[in-house]
Amino acid sequence: MCGIFGSIMKKGTAAPVIHAGLKRLEYRGYDSVGQATIDDGKLFIKKDAGKIDDVHRLLDLDAMPGMIGIGHTRWATHGAPYKVNAHPHTDCAEEVAVVHNGIIESFAELKAELEAHGHVFKSKTDTEVVPHLVEEGLKNGLSLAEAVREAAKRLDGSYALAVVSTREPDKIVCARKESPLVVGINEGEVYCASDIPAFLPLTKKALIIEDGELVVLNGGSSYEIRKLSDWSVVPREPEVVDWNPEMAEKQGYPHFMLKEIYEQADTLRNTLRLQNQFLDLMTEFLDRAGEVFLVACGTSYHACLAASYMFSKLAFLATHPIIASEFIEQHGRSVNIDSTILFVSQSGETADTLAALEHARLRAATVLGLTNVIASTLTRLARVYVCQQSGPAIGVAATKTFTSQLSVLAQLALRLAKKRGKVSHVEIEFLEKKLEHIPEFAETILKTQSDKITGLAQKYSKSQCFFYLGRGISSATASEGRLKLMEISYVPSIAYPAGESKHGPISLIEPGFPVVFICPKDETHRAVVSNIMEMKARGASIIVVCEEGDDEIKRYADDFIEVPKGIPEILSPILYVIPMQLFAYYMALERGLNPDMPRNLAKSVTVK
Ligand code: M6R
Repeated sequence: MCGIFGSIMKKGTAAPVIHAGLKRLEYRGYDSVGQATIDDGKLFIKKDAGKIDDVHRLLDLDAMPGMIGIGHTRWATHGAPYKVNAHPHTDCAEEVAVVHNGIIESFAELKAELEAHGHVFKSKTDTEVVPHLVEEGLKNGLSLAEAVREAAKRLDGSYALAVVSTREPDKIVCARKESPLVVGINEGEVYCASDIPAFLPLTKKALIIEDGELVVLNGGSSYEIRKLSDWSVVPREPEVVDWNPEMAEKQGYPHFMLKEIYEQADTLRNTLRLQNQFLDLMTEFLDRAGEVFLVACGTSYHACLAASYMFSKLAFLATHPIIASEFIEQHGRSVNIDSTILFVSQSGETADTLAALEHARLRAATVLGLTNVIASTLTRLARVYVCQQSGPAIGVAATKTFTSQLSVLAQLALRLAKKRGKVSHVEIEFLEKKLEHIPEFAETILKTQSDKITGLAQKYSKSQCFFYLGRGISSATASEGRLKLMEISYVPSIAYPAGESKHGPISLIEPGFPVVFICPKDETHRAVVSNIMEMKARGASIIVVCEEGDDEIKRYADDFIEVPKGIPEILSPILYVIPMQLFAYYMALERGLNPDMPRNLAKSVTVK
């Protein structure tokens, strides 16, 4: 997730307007910043690694000539957050400058092809293929818009692009596929951006650019939208947006937590575009390991717990999921050169996780990392790391980062299964296909279940305690559902593998005690039905998260939340947790609490 901004001014220079726009987009990433302007037929670029304010102090981003320009604030995915990888990227002749939000999956092949044609690359980014492709188009006599169209046709993956060129110095050409792109129309001025709030102080007139569209911005607030596919012109008038500044920051959502819950279809799509070579390398290390530990805290630990089922069921690999703060006590002495440890941390800075990592390094173990923050301590210390690409997470309660972690871990488990030949190709292909559809399923849940969950929060808001139960991989989902409820709405909650509940915790049950069952239609279904009956017989109020149309379960439930049919067991936590996130959120609201500011908690826990 990065932020892009461009502007064509009526009077005055574009640079300060771009700089201010990027500041409003900084929530989308802050690894590096850069701007390109055109003046008198020449391209000017300023860029560097670091947060916008720091780079501005060094370079003065406002002091650039020209009434037209583009800018970028980066959340690193391909290429470390160094100056050379900061956007804008340029072609060989320094005539074309490009900013990009998204991931170009086909960049390695395209780069090789372009290099074979003599193009020289400066960065390690996926984006840099775009200016070189545009350069090819311009060399072949195409207009800038046509050259961007031809380039876009070659790109697999996602993009919101803004392109300027000294060849047509009065235009910005933008294109979109799966990454957000909006245009702002002002008196005699026009802007492009990753979101509406970026230009909201300047204009309330916004034009949404759809997937598969290209838009040419000209001076004097004029624009032309075309379909990338058949080049037909798309007539569209701007809409007037009425958001206040606070709503704008949260994109119209009342809280960051809700915004991040709703971002999950997009963030899950991003996790399907990881760099293969790092996943393969990690798979190699896991395959060779004498023993494997999965180490993390909080929500990330629950992802590890789920992953231990994935690795075992798909790749026949036993792994030990361990809470980071217990790792040294529990396994400190046995860890050795044959141990491989995958540390999972959204922030990459959690003190307990890093302490365990330090210990593992001292014992010569192989350290792998899964994180959301490139350049975090975890990425610097891991032998190999994978970036989960969820974009900046602001809500204290981890939501989108959990489902992204699960998606990456499922991909690793699938790769390992393939490598080890433990599961048939048919099954692997089936699971890969399902994984591709997970973002759509997430969208369906968010669209169809939200009202119902709001109602359940109203009904149960006064409950004093909750049970969360699930079997198999769903016990990890139950643990995460419990954590969300507890940390946001302060309702004491207990999670157990459902089979274990009768070994003690069941004594808590009295009439009306709410018990949430995570109950996908997998191998555990029958046993979970028995557990439901045990609880029901003692008067518990049963809330189930089940598969759509699972009438058997619904018969026993007081309340149910439905998840689309046909989700394979190993992928189920990714979707079954979403209703739990929403439930925690609405419970907090019902109880008069601010879900973005849970007491005593911090986003990143950097003390042991
Ligand atoms: O950044 P990390 O993934 O290492 O953070 C781990 C936990 O501190 C974090 O998941 C915490 O439990 C969240 N509050 C959960 O919502």
